[in-house]
Amino acid sequence: MSEVIAIVSGKGGVGKTTVTANIGTALAAMGYKVLLIDADVGLRNLDIALGMQDRIVYHFLDLMDEACSEKQAIINDEKYTGLSFLAAPQCQSLEVKHFPLFKKMTDKLKTRYDYIIIDCPAGIDKGFLMAVNAADKVIIVSTPDMLSVRDADKVAAMSEKFGIEKSFLIINKINVDMIKKGDMIDIDTIINTVAVPLIGAVPEDSGIIRSINTGKPIVLLPKKHSATAFINIAKRITGRKVPIMKDEKRGLFSFFRRKK
Ligand SMILES: Nc1ncnc2c1ncn2[C@@H]1O[C@H](COP(=O)(O)OP(=O)(O)O)[C@@H](O)[C@H]1O
Ligand SMILES: [Mg+2]
Repeated sequence: MSEVIAIVSGKGGVGKTTVTANIGTALAAMGYKVLLIDADVGLRNLDIALGMQDRIVYHFLDLMDEACSEKQAIINDEKYTGLSFLAAPQCQSLEVKHFPLFKKMTDKLKTRYDYIIIDCPAGIDKGFLMAVNAADKVIIVSTPDMLSVRDADKVAAMSEKFGIEKSFLIINKINVDMIKKGDMIDIDTIINTVAVPLIGAVPEDSGIIRSINTGKPIVLLPKKHSATAFINIAKRITGRKVPIMKDEKRGLFSFFRRKK
């Protein structure tokens, strides 16, 4: 069964592109056929996170307008044959008329992929609306600060309003030391503020910034703690009940045990 998942957030810079690149790579490494679509028109950067920026010729508006073929627009990863990428335009802007065309395109592509994951712009503007119109499921990314959490809650409500029945939450950039010192809101507070189930929590890791800059998602370095967090999210997306990792910090994931 094929699924279209929109990766969204209220606030910018919370890690949507990072999440998209890592979950997509993890699913492809597990043997699934995955298409990642950058819907951040004008501010695209998923290409850089995937190390594919020099291979872009066409983008999704070209494909929707039939200005190119699927083969010309969709770039295949060199390492994982199951991982493909469709870029966003840099200089054009989205219009409401694009929404049904985007859905038509993803509906058609669904027959060839197990997962289509859309990296959205922040907020609830046109890129979000276009993606949500085509998506089966939404994953909201938030950092553990009150501004981001409150915006995530608004995005969850908007997603529901536009017909999304299944939304999940990823908390990214968790700094356990700051939570311990009381300098960062804890996960229970976040869960109580955002009324959607948690699908994963990713620690803050400077290795992620390096990995994005070099175009190699951190899941390719599976010894990293953050990589394991992304791989587990990918497994949960496939419906596997992933027990909480023994090597994860107890404080960070204690809520999972309590919820069982
Ligand atoms: N878990 C993390 N730990 C440390 N840095 C991160 C983490 N997740 C993302 N980042 C960094 O945060 C910045 C914003 O991430 P990005 O994925 O571009 O966010 P968004 O797409 O939501 O704007 C990037 O520099 C990225 O490398
Ligand atoms: Mg982004």
